[in-house]
Amino acid sequence: MGYKILRKEILGPGSKLMEIYAPFVAKAAKPGQFIVLRVHEKGERIPLTIARTDREKGVVTIIFQEVGKTTIHLGLLKKGDEIADFVGPLGKPTEIENFGTVVAIGGGFGTAVLLPMVTALKKAGNRVITIIGARTKELVLLEQEMKALVDEVLITTDDGSYGMKGLVTDGLKFIMGKEKVDAVYAVGPVPMMKAVADMTREPRIKTIVSLNPIMVDGTGMCGACRVEVGGKTKFACVDGPEFDAHEVNFDLLMKRLKMYREEEKRSLELFKKQLETEGYIWHGG
Ligand code: NAD
Ligand code: FES
Repeated sequence: MGYKILRKEILGPGSKLMEIYAPFVAKAAKPGQFIVLRVHEKGERIPLTIARTDREKGVVTIIFQEVGKTTIHLGLLKKGDEIADFVGPLGKPTEIENFGTVVAIGGGFGTAVLLPMVTALKKAGNRVITIIGARTKELVLLEQEMKALVDEVLITTDDGSYGMKGLVTDGLKFIMGKEKVDAVYAVGPVPMMKAVADMTREPRIKTIVSLNPIMVDGTGMCGACRVEVGGKTKFACVDGPEFDAHEVNFDLLMKRLKMYREEEKRSLELFKKQLETEGYIWHGG
């Protein structure tokens, strides 16, 4: 028996939300933890952050971006369909304290990962300012949900079509120029997390990033998710996924993320051909 999809929502181009009936995961999950799923029994295992849980109803919400074969396949499933495996909660929960003023930065799809973090940070008594960065207006994710959770939301778009024109780092510079920032959480593309870490290193602002290396087993055995933090090898699935941004070797992480790009591309092409044969047309989101 699999894990039933209770609700499905399209959030924006290529991004979807699903509510899954998984009572044991819902009961045990803490902010910052993730699950590993397989769409079907021969499928690839992919990690996804737990966006929300409802313990009473046994429901876990996941938000994902359709970037490769497995996420596209997942996005094609409908309400009532079942996912073969849904294992978790995995990883260490977010380190939550009352820091004072916290800036939570979501770059593009990384914004989805911030939802449980900001909920917990608010609960711990922090003043939370969220920066949501996207290339353009239609890619801005979860604006209303964030506004309901935090004290202030600043939107940045690369092309200036909505909010402040610029990158999330321009938003952070603006906030750091007007008030004291005690901690920063940043989730998004690796170059973004690296740029945020570079900005907060000298003023010694505690900065946490959530890393997304390739994962296979998700339990610390295969070594696929290894990252270098403070000169030491760590496994993101059991030692993370969150780490001190000032200690992370982002260049190595970028290199490792590119390792299977050709194979991923080929696998996606084959899958798209298979979908066409079966009469599906995937429009890219
Ligand atoms: P994107 O490339 O559209 O970038 C989103 C925003 O990030 C930009 O609008 C900009 O404000 C900021 N940004 C990007 N590069 C930057 C740089 N060099 N300096 C400063 N700011 C920069 O992002 P996308 O296409 O939505 O992709 C999302 C990325 O997030 C993917 O790479 C995905 O792997 C990653 N991701 C990470 C996690 C995680 O846990 N770390 C989770 C989900 C997604
Ligand atoms: Fe295998 Fe982390 S995914 S060790």
